[in-house]
Amino acid sequence: MMGTLPSQGDRSADGAGAVGAGPAALVRPARLADVRAVVRLYMGQPDDSRKLYHPFPFEPGKLRLIFSYMTLERPLAGLVARLAPGWAAVLLVAVAPQDGTVLGYGTVRFEPDSRSDLRAKFGYLVGGSQRGRGIGTLIMAEMMRTGISLGARHLGGTVLEENIACQRVLAKYGFSVGGAAGPDLFAPGRSNLKVDLPVSGTAGPGPTRRGGPPGDPTAESAAVG
Ligand SMILES: CC(C)(COP(=O)(O)OP(=O)(O)OC[C@H]1O[C@@H](n2cnc3c(N)ncnc32)[C@H](O)[C@@H]1OP(=O)(O)O)[C@@H](O)C(=O)NCCC(=O)NCCS
Repeated sequence: MMGTLPSQGDRSADGAGAVGAGPAALVRPARLADVRAVVRLYMGQPDDSRKLYHPFPFEPGKLRLIFSYMTLERPLAGLVARLAPGWAAVLLVAVAPQDGTVLGYGTVRFEPDSRSDLRAKFGYLVGGSQRGRGIGTLIMAEMMRTGISLGARHLGGTVLEENIACQRVLAKYGFSVGGAAGPDLFAPGRSNLKVDLPVSGTAGPGPTRRGGPPGDPTAESAAVG
């Protein structure tokens, strides 16, 4: 009855409805050698993307430090998440299978949650020319797996009301999106919505039972919880 976590083979975007044959990307934990490309992706966002996604300063030096920290901390992230959640973070990258080019990335961070012990919060970005190929959906799945495997019992943070692409991805995994989370300090006049998904399959139907794409990470949570 309990499943196992999907294999790496399940973690590739097949670009459903997109280009060519074979996977569009593979998602894996970041290495230090990826940090430069991740900084470039973040800094390279056009204005409209920056308005939707701006969790870090737009300063390359600080970004290198932040992403390097996330990369180096990964082996200890489970322990840190339990002891000092605010310091726990993991950086994932989506890379082209052909040549390893970094196409996008995801961050998993943690905070204490009043209803469960631990909440995992996600952030992700796909390079402009690569969007709409399923890569964001794939990164989301891997961020969910990572958060669950490191002990989170709730997933999700906030999303800007106008960020339709992100909300489409969240909907595929059964996240609830709604309820004002307050104005966005870095995007005046825009509002954030709360994003939430409980992890464990408690009695009765719940968001985790709504079903999602094949390999739904929350459906696997019983195996790791
Ligand atoms: C959000 C983001 C990571 C998604 O990446 P992606 O690789 O394009 O995601 P996917 O291709 O897996 O899915 C995107 C979905 O949004 C849909 N979409 C995109 N723009 C849309 C729009 N303006 N209106 C309606 N749907 C839209 C796509 O059709 C797709 O849905 P589908 O699979 O049902 O067709 C990417 O848009 C991005 O980097 N945005 C800027 C950063 C950001 O907003 N990060 C998230 C902050 S919470």
